[in-house]
Amino acid sequence: MLAQLDTIQTEALAAIAGITDEASLEEVRIAFLGKKGSLTAAAAGMRDVPADQKKDVGQKLNEVREAITSALETTSADLTAKKDAAAFASIDPTLPSRPLPKGGLHPLSLVLDEAVKVLRRMGFALAEGPEIETEWHCFDALNTPADHPARNESDTFYFENGKLLRTHTSSVQIRTMEKEVPPVRIIAPGSAFRRDEIDATHLSAFHQLEGLYVDQRVTLADLKGTLEYFFREIFGSKTEFRFRPHFFPFTEPSFEVDIKLHAAGRPSKWIEIAGCGMVDPAVFSEVGRKRGDAAYDPDKVTGFAFGMGLDRLAMIMYGIPDLRLLIENDVRFLQQFRG
Ligand code: PHE
Repeated sequence: MLAQLDTIQTEALAAIAGITDEASLEEVRIAFLGKKGSLTAAAAGMRDVPADQKKDVGQKLNEVREAITSALETTSADLTAKKDAAAFASIDPTLPSRPLPKGGLHPLSLVLDEAVKVLRRMGFALAEGPEIETEWHCFDALNTPADHPARNESDTFYFENGKLLRTHTSSVQIRTMEKEVPPVRIIAPGSAFRRDEIDATHLSAFHQLEGLYVDQRVTLADLKGTLEYFFREIFGSKTEFRFRPHFFPFTEPSFEVDIKLHAAGRPSKWIEIAGCGMVDPAVFSEVGRKRGDAAYDPDKVTGFAFGMGLDRLAMIMYGIPDLRLLIENDVRFLQQFRG
């Protein structure tokens, strides 16, 4: 029996040495270790081995099985390594990888960065407030009474708890004055929401940039000078703009600002870009009532405020004919802004 096992081992190792591919490896494994393999048959002969030799024969059987198994494993690993080497032969792993296509900033982000840069240079600090706002911050404190059309269900997105998606960023004026004492000079970019009919110049979710300056003796000349400087800085000195008298409940006097839009292949036209005006004393009074101090005494402080449509700034900056292009995420459009 011991001699028979030696023979099986010698035969098996010789067969394994001749293996060249995975199919023959499997054949050899089955021939020796499979259910009908020669080693399996020899193991079945154990029951005829006399009791006093069982230990030696059993040990030998295990040694032979291990020798064959480990030779098979080594050969299998060699085969895999050879296959990998062949697969990599045509590849140079030391070459640098191909660059990924570069993304770019959305035109709105580009305009916002530019606007913030100019206004910060003029001394305005960034401020912010929540998009889900109370009616008091969005309307009452801004001298906008309960029967004002802007508060209508059909113009405004309300929640069941009485809060609403802010219809403008002017609520940040109030939030800032609640916290800070004059002089206050802030800008607040952010989203605003209205139940507007969507068209080339209106979206129901859009972006504004609010500005507020409160101090002693702030005048309309400061407002005009600030906005004129701003428009020239971001659109260039040839920009045409105009101030039109208008009405806002929270400023007096109030204006709307229009800028000439030159979009490729279309006739030039004025588009409204901002509302602005001198902060209404009623706003200071309401803020003072809420604060419970005289920091915003309407007899001592004055201020100006403005709110610009950022999406419309982007239209003018890049000659975009339709606001909807900004939200459709068509790469053919967006690619044009890749820096
Ligand atoms: N909040 C106004 C709007 O959304 C714009 C505005 C801001 C007007 C500040 C005056 C002062 O139309």
